[in-house]
Amino acid sequence: MNVLAIESSCDETAVAILTDTNRVLASEVYSQVALHRPFGGVVPELAARSHVERLAPLVDAALATAGLDLSAIDAVAAARGPGLLGPLLVGMTYGQGLALARGLPFVGVNHLAGHLLSPDLDAPLRFPALVLLATGGHTALYRLDGETEVLLLRRTVDDAVGEAFDKVAKMLNLGYPGGPVVERAAAGGDPTVVPLPRPFPKDPRALSLSGLKTAVRRTIETATNATDPRFVADLCASFQAAVADVLSEALSTALAHHSDVRAVYLVGGVAANRSIGAQLGATVGEREFRAPSMRWCGDNAAMIARAAWPRLVAGAADPWDLQPRVRWEVAPWA
Ligand code: KG4
Ligand code: ZN
Repeated sequence: MNVLAIESSCDETAVAILTDTNRVLASEVYSQVALHRPFGGVVPELAARSHVERLAPLVDAALATAGLDLSAIDAVAAARGPGLLGPLLVGMTYGQGLALARGLPFVGVNHLAGHLLSPDLDAPLRFPALVLLATGGHTALYRLDGETEVLLLRRTVDDAVGEAFDKVAKMLNLGYPGGPVVERAAAGGDPTVVPLPRPFPKDPRALSLSGLKTAVRRTIETATNATDPRFVADLCASFQAAVADVLSEALSTALAHHSDVRAVYLVGGVAANRSIGAQLGATVGEREFRAPSMRWCGDNAAMIARAAWPRLVAGAADPWDLQPRVRWEVAPWA
């Protein structure tokens, strides 16, 4: 089966073709980062318009890369949510148009399910697994007993990890998106210089990062040397270390309660952060621990095709009046 999938939930336009569960024949990604950079964040209207412009050429590029004609596609999938309404509508409508014209089934996919299954694109997942999802809009910990058997264990009550990185970068005028620039600045800093809190809510289902972000803001406001590269590097390193400690604590608490898990995966844009990955790996210890390869950390359409796979194999298809879901938790609470 060849599945053509579309991702357009935020600021990446992506098209992929997947065959045999996890063999990626093509994965094309167009990043709109340069378009949104002058605004310091994603502008939904601009994003939607850019998706309209980029989708058709990306579909052509994906087919060319895969060496396939449209007639070789057996099903179409698109991210249905969570995400920005306009951008989601563009991808879904395009995917449905393609499916309808070719007489193919169409399914709408939860973008977070795509992230959860993304490590499977590199090597088969092992179950039961704990998956820590950390993106620009979501941060949560899940237990997976199979590719569609997912339970939500813990979720942030305020900022997502990627969002916190983006905000810290903005406070320090480091640019956008914040994750990569903060990580780069942190590489030259000392994580023990700036004392920052490690907020850890009593509620076993909660995670909180806004207190840490506020502490960073206060440190900048009271600093006499806020633009000094040494100060910036030390603050970024201290912030990154605090985030790693918070995630690490959440993970070790979960591991204590779910001692039967065989593997732990870190997924989403933040999984690109080497320092956080290294600390979580140390926390996990003997069990398998990995993050997806770089191209599957950020938003891409191969993970959308992967998440669509179980339903498509079962012969499912969504109705043509399917609506996007701006907010959509992927799993029930454990
Ligand atoms: O998964 P993703 O590409 O898009 C969403 O679904 O949100 O994640 C994007 C987020 C951004 O907030 C970005 O700053 C963060 O991932 N990010 C990082 C790194 N690279 C990207 N955060 C920390 N360290 C990084 N190296
Ligand atoms: Zn994402």
